[in-house]
Amino acid sequence: MNSQLDTMDETFYANFSDMASYYGAYGGCFVPETLMPAIEGIVNQIDEITRDEGFRSELRGLLEEYVGRPTPLTYAKNLSQELGFEIWLKREDLAHTGAHKINNALGQALLAKRMGKRRIIAETGAGQHGVATATVCALLGLDCTIYMGAVDVARQQLNVFRMEMLGATVVEVDNGTKTLKDAINEAIRDWVTHVDDTYYLLGSALGPHPYPVVVREFQKVIGIEAKQAFQSKFPGELPTAVVACVGGGSNAIGLFHTFIHDPSVRLIGIEAEGDGIQSGRHSVRLASSVDPKAGVLQGCYSFLMQNSDGQVEETHSIAPGLDYAMVGPEHAQLWQQKRAEYHSVKDEEALEGLKLLTRTEGIIPALESAHAIAGLVKLKDTFLQGDRVIVNISGRGDKDMMAIFERSKKKDK
Ligand SMILES: Cc1ncc(COP(=O)(O)O)c(C=O)c1O
Repeated sequence: MNSQLDTMDETFYANFSDMASYYGAYGGCFVPETLMPAIEGIVNQIDEITRDEGFRSELRGLLEEYVGRPTPLTYAKNLSQELGFEIWLKREDLAHTGAHKINNALGQALLAKRMGKRRIIAETGAGQHGVATATVCALLGLDCTIYMGAVDVARQQLNVFRMEMLGATVVEVDNGTKTLKDAINEAIRDWVTHVDDTYYLLGSALGPHPYPVVVREFQKVIGIEAKQAFQSKFPGELPTAVVACVGGGSNAIGLFHTFIHDPSVRLIGIEAEGDGIQSGRHSVRLASSVDPKAGVLQGCYSFLMQNSDGQVEETHSIAPGLDYAMVGPEHAQLWQQKRAEYHSVKDEEALEGLKLLTRTEGIIPALESAHAIAGLVKLKDTFLQGDRVIVNISGRGDKDMMAIFERSKKKDK
């Protein structure tokens, strides 16, 4: 098959031949023994399945003809003029279902099918991973159950409706903070009781080994395509920086990965500062103004918002996909090595970022991606004229329109 993706560097293909469970001190597989056979099932089969040419060509074909890859790298001319340096947008918002989540959902669903699983379970915060999972399950004829916190169900109703329309069962989780962490707990509970026929399709680069590496390998196509498109415009050159929002960390690691060994490229992750660090209502795990603490949550050892007893703190962000207490272990390592830098922006700054991109470029980003734009604004004095920065627009804003509308109505009152 002579596809556009065929011309890419070999590293395009997910590679699990030497996967490790730790990133420096972070990662691991802290799960109950009852789950170990399910985890080992993935670890033992993934390399052979994903090396198979049939698997590769099916994934490659679907990424191209179903998802619409490669997604474009768009020059943001007006925004560049406004900020004083060149901004290039990696358009994951144009992928089928409207966000990067489909890259990983498709890869893992194909894997699950080849492992002989008939039933898929997943968790979702913003609903984008739930929609992506329900979509690929419809495509591949798999049974699908999605767990979602009640708070997220309320603020992402359109996505709940989309999932149900796609044939998924959406289970509303009423425990704890009723957000992503609680949805993951319920998904894991389901998995423990249905290990034989069920595959847990985790949506971000976190959780127990092997998920952080599995998700990264299926998302690294973002950075590989971005680098290739950039170098076709500027042969032999590299961007000054690559910028992405960081929830669990999948779109950011997907963009960063191919640039890790290009030391001149700044890797910049933007976390959600909610109402501000002082308010206690935020989702900042790494950004420099806090003192990060590591702990175990949902099978993984990494930086975690926790109190002095190690109990997980409540989180907040206007962007449901960033509203999570832990950051993925590879980001923990990149932070500790000082290879990547992490900053944060508040809800209000993210809303301004959303308006800025909309006004200047006619692109309405997801609230999550609006954090990356707002981060760029915040850091603008660290860039020089002539610098070229790639920003990942991880998703489109349609899902957030109702929530923003309701918020502006409340403010007007
Ligand atoms: C559009 C979009 N961007 C970013 C994220 C954050 O997730 P991650 O950090 O795994 O990319 C989400 C999560 O739902 C999302 O929907």
